[in-house]
Amino acid sequence: MTLPQDKLHTAVADVMNKVIAWRRHLHAHPELSFLEYNTAQFVYDALRPLPGLEVSRPTRTSVLAKLVGKKPGKTIALRADMDALPIQEEHDFDFVSQAPGVMHACGHDGHTAILLGVAMVLSELTDDLTGEVRLIFQHAEELYPGGAEELVRAGVMEGVDVVLGAHLWAPLPVGLVAVTPGPLLAAPDTFHITIRGSGGHAAEPQKTVDPIAVGAQVVVNLQHICSRYKDPFLPGVVSVTQFVAGTADNVIPETSLLAGTVRTFDRELREQIPEQMKRIVQGVCAAHGATMEWEYQLGYRAVVNNEAVTDRLRAILLREFGESGVTVAKPTMGGEDFSAYLAKVPGSFFLIGAGNTAAGIVHPHHHPRFTVDEAALAIGVRAYVRAVVEWWQA
Ligand code: NI
Repeated sequence: MTLPQDKLHTAVADVMNKVIAWRRHLHAHPELSFLEYNTAQFVYDALRPLPGLEVSRPTRTSVLAKLVGKKPGKTIALRADMDALPIQEEHDFDFVSQAPGVMHACGHDGHTAILLGVAMVLSELTDDLTGEVRLIFQHAEELYPGGAEELVRAGVMEGVDVVLGAHLWAPLPVGLVAVTPGPLLAAPDTFHITIRGSGGHAAEPQKTVDPIAVGAQVVVNLQHICSRYKDPFLPGVVSVTQFVAGTADNVIPETSLLAGTVRTFDRELREQIPEQMKRIVQGVCAAHGATMEWEYQLGYRAVVNNEAVTDRLRAILLREFGESGVTVAKPTMGGEDFSAYLAKVPGSFFLIGAGNTAAGIVHPHHHPRFTVDEAALAIGVRAYVRAVVEWWQA
């Protein structure tokens, strides 16, 4: 099928009031990961009246919508995540979060509203449709083990030829979209290490094994992994983010806890780092007469975009937004469970600029004053609709 650009733009413009209203409703009613009951119901209710859509609930808090064409063709899947974060919002606009301590501080409210807008636009085009469009409204992106893996197990990727996802991105100015061939987001793994010494009176350290002094040595020695062990051409982060110990000025405690995160792209490096860490922690503890308990949790896989799909997506976005509207995003060490879909089907995850310095939209993701420039929502709808329409033509 063909769809002239002006017809597409009219179709998108027609749904934007609704998209913005949906985003604001979702923003005011955020729900935490795996608890998106009202959000999923809201999405389900918004999709149900649209012509030609088969709407289902693959898990308790997710929604799947299929738009099946009259002629056979490619199946393209689009994914939006719907969950919020345990953050107390600090905005005073009139659609501020009504849920104490819960906030859409990553833009997933916008992702959901964008995909609802895409559903509305595409549901009017079913006569022209070949193949299938699958719209995935996913729960629990923010909390391991993540909703994507559950949805893959529920079969949402079966028969899919290509999968696309996007993130509203505050560090990128509104008006730009960014694609990245290859690695985009890292594998976020986590560790919890308990160092067990022998507590006692702070005035008599000779009678103790001090788990704080040993822990401090462990933190210093863990820095060797990225500075000395790792190939400098492979990105990697080892961050100790919690060091918890002690209860009083005059007590050497029995234990200390070290916890944090490891971020990598390379599969081999991802396997090596925990082995090296464990050897270091064991060695330092043994040197000082302490022992350790070790817990290491593998998180999401890295998001590595398929090169061919990304090239194609880039060409489509260039036709839609022009040279000045499309850029390349550098990889970051953040994580995303979109990788669960990419493990099954070739696809690409791209970024939609949502920041606006002049309008004060400058706060980072996961900040109590995070928000998006709502002009980015129309760009998201346009990007997805154009991508679907052009993929159908292949
Ligand atoms: Ni996010």
